[in-house]
Amino acid sequence: MTSERRFYLTTPIYYVNDKPHIGHAYTSLAADVLARWKRLSGHEVFFLTGTDEHGQKVEKAAEAKGLDPQTFTDQVSQAFRDLAVRMNYSNDAFIRTTEERHKDACAALWKRLEERGQIYLGHYEGWYAVRDEAFYGPDEITEKDGQKFAPTGAPVEWVREPSYFFRLSAWQDRLLAFYDENPDFIAPVSRRNEVISFVKGGLNDLSISRTSFKWGVKVPGDEAHVMYVWLDALTNYITALGYPDESGPLWKFWPADVHFVGKDILRFHTIYWPAFLMAAGLPTPRRVFAHGWWTNEGQKISKSLGNVIDPLALVEEFGLDPVRFFLLREVPFGQDGDFQRKALVGRLNGELADALGNLANRTLSLLQRNCEGRLPEPATTASEADRAFLAIAGHAELSAMVDELLNQQKFDAALAQIFTAIREANGYITREQPWALKKTDPERMRVVLRTLHDALRVFGTLLQPFMPDTMAKLLDQLAVPAEARGLDALATPLPGGTSLPPPSPLFQKIQGEAA
Ligand code: MSP
Repeated sequence: MTSERRFYLTTPIYYVNDKPHIGHAYTSLAADVLARWKRLSGHEVFFLTGTDEHGQKVEKAAEAKGLDPQTFTDQVSQAFRDLAVRMNYSNDAFIRTTEERHKDACAALWKRLEERGQIYLGHYEGWYAVRDEAFYGPDEITEKDGQKFAPTGAPVEWVREPSYFFRLSAWQDRLLAFYDENPDFIAPVSRRNEVISFVKGGLNDLSISRTSFKWGVKVPGDEAHVMYVWLDALTNYITALGYPDESGPLWKFWPADVHFVGKDILRFHTIYWPAFLMAAGLPTPRRVFAHGWWTNEGQKISKSLGNVIDPLALVEEFGLDPVRFFLLREVPFGQDGDFQRKALVGRLNGELADALGNLANRTLSLLQRNCEGRLPEPATTASEADRAFLAIAGHAELSAMVDELLNQQKFDAALAQIFTAIREANGYITREQPWALKKTDPERMRVVLRTLHDALRVFGTLLQPFMPDTMAKLLDQLAVPAEARGLDALATPLPGGTSLPPPSPLFQKIQGEAA
C-alpha cells in the first residue's frame, strides 16, 4: 500500500476535568465521518482519540472531588470511552496520557530536544490560566473587580518558578516559511491568516516545565519538574504510533493527515506542535483543521448558565444517526453555529424522514408489490428523463464530488450535494409515477424502479460514514451484500432477480413540533 492510501487522523485528547459535552462529541464526530469515508474509499486508516489527564486543571478537579488524581482520571476517562461507543465512533485506538508508554514517549522527545540544544533552564515569571493551561503576555491581560483575565475569559494567576524553556523564538522564521510552503496546513483559510499574523508578531521562548505542582510527566534527569501539559498532550499523537520506536508497525502512519481541533486550541497545534517536531527533526503533520463553536439557542454554552448540551441526551431523544447527521449538516464545518432544537426537528422530519425515508419506502414497497419483491434487470432503455436524473444521482459523479468536499472537510457541502440528488430522485418518482405504470407500461415501470433502486444504493453507500447504522439498514433492504458497500463496488450493478426483503421505515418523524 502506498502512503497515499494510508490515512492518519486524530481528535484532541480531552481533559478529564469534566464529563463529555457537545464540543467533545462534535470534534470526534467529524473525525469519525472522515475516517469512515477513507476506509470506504479503500484507505488503510488509523483514527485516534483519547484523554488528556495531566496538568493543574485535572489535579484541581480531582482535589475538589476529594480523590487522588489517578483514581479521578480513571473514572472520568471512562466516560469518554463510553461516549465513543455510544456515538458509534470507529476509533482504532484510545490513548490516555497516564499510560507508561506515553510517559516514555514524552521523555524520549524531551531528551531529543535537549540533545539538539532546544531546551534550557531558566525562570518563568508571568500570567498563567489554569483553565486554558496556557501562559499569557502582560498586554493580553484585562482586569475586572480585582481579578485578572486572559482574552479567553479564563482567570489568570501570577506564576514565578524555575522552568525549562523551549527555544520557540528561534523557530519564528522557519514556521513562517513552513506555512508558506504548506498552504493546506492550517484550515480554514481565515484561521491560517490569524496564525500567520500571530507568529509574525513575534514568538517568545516557551516555558515547558512547572515545579509548583506534581501531576504530570516528570522531566528526565530533573524530577522536581513536571512537563508543561501541552508538550505532554501533543506528544500523544506520536505515542500512539509507537514513538520513539520508529521501526514499529504503526510508525508508517506518521505524519498525521489531519488533526481535528476546535478553534480555541489552534495555536498549540499550528505553532508549538510543528516547532517541537521540526526542532526534534521529525516530520510535521499535513493539516490541522479548526472547527467553530456551538452556542445553544443563541447563548454561549457555559456550566454557570446551566445550558451545557449533553450529546447522549440528544441521542436518547432523537436517535443516534439523526444527531450525527444534524451536527454536520446544519453548520459549515469551521464556522461557529447555533444549536436550535427547531432546526434539528426540521432536518429530521424534512430531509431524513420525508426526502430520504419516504423515497426508500415508496420505491421498495412498489418493488415488493409490483415486481414480486425482485430487483428488475439493469435498465438498458434509458429515456431522456432517466439520463437527466442519472447525471445528478449517478454514482461516479456524486462520489467524486463528495470525495473532493470531504478531503477539504466540507461536511455540510458534501451532505448538501447528496441531498440535492435525493430531492432530484423525489422529483423523478413524482414525475414518472411508477405506481401508475403497472397496467399501462410494465416494462417502463421496471426501468423506473430499477433506476430508483440504483440511486438509493448510491445514497445509502455515500451516507454510510454519516449514519452508519441507518444506512446499513437501508443497504440491507436494498439487498446490497456486505462486501459490495464500498465506493468501488458502486460501478458493478446488482444482478437482476435479486430478492428484496420487505421494507420498514428508516426514520421516525418527531410529531407535534413545528419545524
Ligand atoms: N486537552 C486539550 C486538547 C489537547 S490535544 C493535544 C483540550 N481538551 S478539551 O477537553 O478542553 O477539548 C475540548 C474540545 O471540545 C476542543 O476541540 C474544543 O474546541 C471543543 N469544544 C469545547 N466547547 C465547544 C463548543 N461549545 N462547541 C464546539 N466545540 C467546543 O482542549
